[in-house]
Amino acid sequence: MRLPGLIDPHVHFREPGQTHKEDWNTGTSAALAGGVTMVLAMPNTKPPIFDAATLDLALGAAKEKARCDYAQFLGAGPGNAEWGQREALPLRAAGLKMYLDSTFGELRLNDMSLWMPHFERFPKGRPIVLHSESRTMAAGILFAALYDRPVHIAHISLKEEVLLIKAAKEKGIKVTCEVSPHHLFLTEDDIPAISHGHPGRGEVRPRLATKEDVEALWANLNVIDCFATDHAPHTLTEKDGENPPPGFPGVETLLPLLLTAVDDGRLTMDDIVLRSVTNPRKIFALPEQPETWVEVDENAQYEIKASEMHSRCGWTPFEGWQVKGRVRRVVLRGREAFKDGNILVEPGYGRNVREK
Ligand code: NCD
Ligand code: ZN
Repeated sequence: MRLPGLIDPHVHFREPGQTHKEDWNTGTSAALAGGVTMVLAMPNTKPPIFDAATLDLALGAAKEKARCDYAQFLGAGPGNAEWGQREALPLRAAGLKMYLDSTFGELRLNDMSLWMPHFERFPKGRPIVLHSESRTMAAGILFAALYDRPVHIAHISLKEEVLLIKAAKEKGIKVTCEVSPHHLFLTEDDIPAISHGHPGRGEVRPRLATKEDVEALWANLNVIDCFATDHAPHTLTEKDGENPPPGFPGVETLLPLLLTAVDDGRLTMDDIVLRSVTNPRKIFALPEQPETWVEVDENAQYEIKASEMHSRCGWTPFEGWQVKGRVRRVVLRGREAFKDGNILVEPGYGRNVREK
C-alpha cells in the first residue's frame, strides 16, 4: 500500500549540543525508516535556538547531515520578541515554540507578560506552538482569542484538554492540536512494564495519563488535527541515572503503531493521511514534496526492537510490541531513500523547506 510521505511536526534532534542523544543524521535516518519524510525540529537544544546565530548553528548542522526534509523552530525567550524588526528571522524558521510549562530544557516562560510580546509580534502567517498543560492550556487559548491569531497546542494528553479544545473550536477560536502516539497507545498503567525497574524510563512530559484520558482522546479524534511523535531521545544511561530527563523516542514507531490501529479497526488510512500529511501541511504552511511516497506492507507482522532502529538513544517504550504494518520503501523527491531496513540517501540530501 502506498501513502504520501508523513510529516512529523514535533521532533527533538538534539543538535547543537547533545549529539550523544541524537543528531541530524541519526534523527532523520530514524524518520525515514518510520516513513516520515519531513520533520519540524524543536528549539530546546544546547544552546537553545532563539536568535539568528543559534538558528544558523542548527540549520548549518541540518544542511550538512539531514537525510529527510526539515525546518527548525525558534524558541520564545524572555528577551527575543522583537520579531517585528526582524521579520526575516521568523520566516526562516518552522515557527515559534513557546514553553508555558516545565519540561526538558531552559526555555520556560513563567510570567504571562512574557507571552504578550510574542503574540503581538510573531508574524501571523507563521505558527505559534504551545507546550501547555491543563489550565495553562486554557490561558494559551485565551491568548489566541485576545490576539486573534492561530495557536497550535503540542502533545495533548488529558480528557479536560481535548474537551477544552473542542469547546474553543466551537467558539471559532483559531486553535489546532496534536497528539503523540505514546498518549494514544500507553496509559500510566503501562509505566511498570516500560520501566523494567528503572522509573526514569516512564518519565515523559506530558506524563502518561489515565485510561479515562486515553479513551477520551480516541473518542474525540475528530478534535485532533495532527499526529506528532514528540520524538525526545535520551540515552538509557541518562534515563536510568539520577534526575532522569523526560522524553520518549517515537519517530520510527509512529507508522507501525498507526497501521496496527487501522488493522484493529480503531483508525482508517484516511485518518492517518489527514493527521500526518494534509493537516500539518496546512497548519504549518509546508510545501508539497513532489515524487515522494511511502510503501508499507500492511500485512507484515513484526516485533518492535530498539536494536533494529536508527535513533542513537538505543531504547523504545514500545519494546517487544507486536505490530502489523511495516515500512518497506520510502521515495523522497524522486530518490529511493529507504528500503527494507537500509537508508539509501546520504547526509545532506534533506532540504530545508523554509528555503526557497
Ligand atoms: C522533551 C525533550 O526531551 O526535549 N521531553 C518530553 O518529555 N517530551 C521536551 C518536551 O517536548 O517537552
Ligand atoms: Zn517536545
